[in-house]
Amino acid sequence: MRFGHFDDEAREYVITTPHTPYPWINYLGSEQFFSLVSHQAGGYSFYRDAKMRRLTRYRYNNIPADAGGRYLYVNDGGDVWTPSWLPVKADLDHFEARHGLGYSRITGERGGLRVETLIFVPLGENAEVQKVTFTNTSDAAKTFTAFSFVEFCLWNAQDDQTNYQRNLSIGEVEVEETGPHGGSAIYHKTEYRERRDHYAVFGVNAQADGFDTDRDTFVGAYNSLGEAAVPRAGRSANSVASGWYPIGSHSVSVTLEPGESRELVYVLGYLENADEEKWADDAHQVVNKTGAHALLGRFATAEQADAAFDALRAHWTGLLSTYSVTSGDEKLDRMVNIWNQYQCMVTFNMSRSASYFETGIGRGMGFRDSNQDLLGFVHLVPERARERIIDIASTQFADGSAYHQYQPLTKRGNNDIGSGFNDDPLWLIAGVAAYIKETGDDSILDEPVPFDNEPGSEVPLFEHLTRSFEFTVANRGPHGLPLIGRADWNDCLNLNCFSTTPGESFQTTENQAGGVAESVFIAAQFVLYGPEYAALAERRGLPDVAAAARRHVDEVRSAVLEHGWDGAWFLRAYDYYGNPVGTDAKPEGKIWIEPQGFAVMAGIGVGSGPDDADAPAIQALDSVGDMLGTPHGLVLQYPAYTTYQIELGEVSTYPPGYKENGGIFCHNNPWVIIAETVVGRGDRAFDYYRRITPAYREDISDVHRLEPYVYAQMIAGKEAVRAGEAKNSWLTGTAAWNFVAVSQYLLGVRPDYDGLVVDPQIGPDVPSYSVTRVARGATYEISVTNSGARGARGSLTVDGRPVEGNLVPYAPAGSTVRVEVVL
Ligand code: GLC
Ligand code: GLC
Repeated sequence: MRFGHFDDEAREYVITTPHTPYPWINYLGSEQFFSLVSHQAGGYSFYRDAKMRRLTRYRYNNIPADAGGRYLYVNDGGDVWTPSWLPVKADLDHFEARHGLGYSRITGERGGLRVETLIFVPLGENAEVQKVTFTNTSDAAKTFTAFSFVEFCLWNAQDDQTNYQRNLSIGEVEVEETGPHGGSAIYHKTEYRERRDHYAVFGVNAQADGFDTDRDTFVGAYNSLGEAAVPRAGRSANSVASGWYPIGSHSVSVTLEPGESRELVYVLGYLENADEEKWADDAHQVVNKTGAHALLGRFATAEQADAAFDALRAHWTGLLSTYSVTSGDEKLDRMVNIWNQYQCMVTFNMSRSASYFETGIGRGMGFRDSNQDLLGFVHLVPERARERIIDIASTQFADGSAYHQYQPLTKRGNNDIGSGFNDDPLWLIAGVAAYIKETGDDSILDEPVPFDNEPGSEVPLFEHLTRSFEFTVANRGPHGLPLIGRADWNDCLNLNCFSTTPGESFQTTENQAGGVAESVFIAAQFVLYGPEYAALAERRGLPDVAAAARRHVDEVRSAVLEHGWDGAWFLRAYDYYGNPVGTDAKPEGKIWIEPQGFAVMAGIGVGSGPDDADAPAIQALDSVGDMLGTPHGLVLQYPAYTTYQIELGEVSTYPPGYKENGGIFCHNNPWVIIAETVVGRGDRAFDYYRRITPAYREDISDVHRLEPYVYAQMIAGKEAVRAGEAKNSWLTGTAAWNFVAVSQYLLGVRPDYDGLVVDPQIGPDVPSYSVTRVARGATYEISVTNSGARGARGSLTVDGRPVEGNLVPYAPAGSTVRVEVVL
C-alpha cells in the first residue's frame, strides 16, 4: 500500500493523504539555518546547533504526534481549518504535500479555497521562507482571514523542556505593526537583554490586521493547537507576551474574486548583533533590527521569494549533475540520481542530531559517523568535506584515540561521552582517503591540525593519520587482533562494561580493567584502511613508512584468518575473558554481519573468485545469505539474544529482532553488498540492495511505515514482533554507505588517486546503463553493456581506444571522456 508517489521530473515525493503511518518529513537548509518539516507542516527550525540555538518549539513524545510547526489557520466565514490538515484536522477536499530538495510544498483545499504553502530556506540566508498562495476556486467572491503561527523556543532546547521555574518568567518580544517594507513583524528577544547576541524575527510582507505573541491568549487556556481561540474568534487579540510562552502570529484578511489568487510571504529569521551594536536606543531596551529589516526587505515580494526558490532549484540541479545514471530501472535511477544523494547531504549536515527520532539535544557530530557520512557526500561539495575533516581531526588526542563526538557550535570534543571507541581513529583514514581520491588535493595532508583543539599542538594532518594507524597497531590483544575498548562500530557490543545498574549508559560507564576483548571488525577495518594509509605515505615520498604499514596490515590479515575464523564465517570478537563471540558453538548470536562484510571488503580470504567454494570469503557470504537473509534485508546477527548477556553489553538489552540485536541495521547491509561485488557476484549484491532501498519498498509503505524516499537506520528483523517495520529514518550512515555501494560498486564508477575505476558488478537485471560522472572538472560519459555473469569484469574502451585493466586516467578539467564497457 502507498500513500503517495514519486514525481521524478520534479524531483519530489508527492504525499496524497495526511494519514501516513507516521509523519513523513523533509529537511530545509544546507548551510547554517535548518528546518525540519513534516507533510503536515510540523517540525522546527534552528541555527547551526539544534540544541543551543533552537528558534521554534517542537514536542517530542506528544499525543498526538507531530505537535509544533509553522501553521496557518484559515477562518473562512466561520469555518476554521488548516491546509496542512494538522492541527485543526478539518476534512480537506484536496490535500497534497510535495517534499523536494530543500523545500516542501503543502496544499490544502476546502470550501472553495485552495491554500498552497511553499516552504524553503533560501541559499545564503539564515531564514525559513513560506510563500503562501491563496486561490478562490469557488464561483463566488470570498473574504477570509489567515492567521499564521509559530511558537518560539527559548533557544536552549534542553533547558526549554526542563527549567520552567525560570523560563516562564523570561520571555520577551517586540512588535512592529508596520515595518520598513510595509509588512508587520514580531521579534523574539528572550535573554537578549543579558548575554545573548541573537534574536529571531517572524514577519509577513503585508500590513497585518492584527497580531498575537502570547500563546495562552492565542490558543486559549486548556485548548489544544487544533482548538486555537483567536482563529475561531476570527480576529487577533494583539497580545504582547511577557514571560510564559512567546509566539508569533499575524492575521491578514483577504478578499478574492472567483479564480483570483493572492500571495503572502512569511519569513522566520535568525539574526546576530555584535556587542556594541545590540541596541537601537541608549536605554538598551529596543533591539537593533537593522539585520532583520534587511532580511525582510529581501523577501518583501512574492517575486523575490520566487527568485530565491529558483536559485535553490538550480543549486540542486548543479549538485546532482556530478553523478547520474540512466538504467531503465526507474527505482534505481531515482534513488541514485535524487534521493540517496539528497539524504547524504542531510546526514552530512545533521550527523545524528535532529530528526523525528533524534531530539537535537543528545548527540553532537560523531567522529565515526561524520567520517562515514563524508564518503557519500564528498563528491557534492568537496570544500565542505575538507573543512569537516579538519574539524573532526582537531578533536583527536595525541595518542591517536579520539573524542567520540563533538559539538557543532563549539567544535570541541564532548566530555560527556569521552573517548575509547577503538574503531574511531581508523575512520579518519577512510574519510581523508576518500577526499583525496575525489579531489586530488594532497595539500590537506600538510594542513596544521591540533590535538583536542589545543592551540600550539598543531601537526600536519598526515601525522594525525599516522597516530590513527599507530593507535591500532599499539592496542592489540593476545590473538594479535585490535582491542575493542568501549565498543567498535557496534555501539552496543560493550565487552568491558558489565553493567548491572538500570539506566546506566553502556557507552560511558566505567569499564572493567584487565580484559583482553578484541574486535575482528576493527581488524578488518585495519586491513581495509591500512593500505590507504600506506598509499598516502608512498605518495608523500615515505616508502619506508608505507612498507612498515603494509607489514602490519599483513600481520593483522593473518591474525583474522588464523584467529578470526569460526569454520563457516568470521568471528565477531573475543570477549573480556578471551572467549569467542559470534561462533556456531553458542546457541545465540552465532553469526554477526559486520566482520563478514568488512573482511571481504578488505579482500581477506577472497580466493580465486565466485566459484572458489573453499575461499573463506565465499563461505562467509554464503553463511550471511543463509542465516541473516530476510525479504526486508540482512539482520545484524542470528539468532538474536533472548536474555541479557552481561558480558556483551547493550546489545542484548534490545528485544530480539530490534536495533543491534537481530534488527536489519541497514548501515551494514551495503558492506555485504560491496563484499559480494568484490567476489564478483553482482546478482546477489543487487538483490540485497533492493531489499532495503526505500523506493523498492514503496508498495509496502503500510508495513515499512516510514518515508519511502529515504533510508531508515533500522528495519525490524525476522525475530521481531513487527518484522519489516522501519524506525529512525533519515539520520543514518546507511545513506552514505548505500550511495558508495550503488554508485561505486554496483554501477562500479569510483574515484581512485590517479583515475576513475570503472568496474560494474550489478548482475543481469540491468543489462545496460549509462553513467555521467564529473570528476576533477572533467566529464566522463560511461556506457555499459552488461551480461551480468558472475565473475565477469568489464573490458574498457576510452575515447575509442581499448585499455588494459579498469582505470580511466583523469582527464584535464573541461574535457569530456567517453568510456565504453562490455562484460
Ligand atoms: C548508530 C550510531 C553509529 C553506530 C551504529 C551501530 O547508528 O550512530 O555510530 O555505529 O549505531 O551501533
Ligand atoms: C544506543 C543505540 C545505538 C546508538 C548508541 C549511541 O546504543 O542503540 O544505535 O548508536 O546508543 O548513542
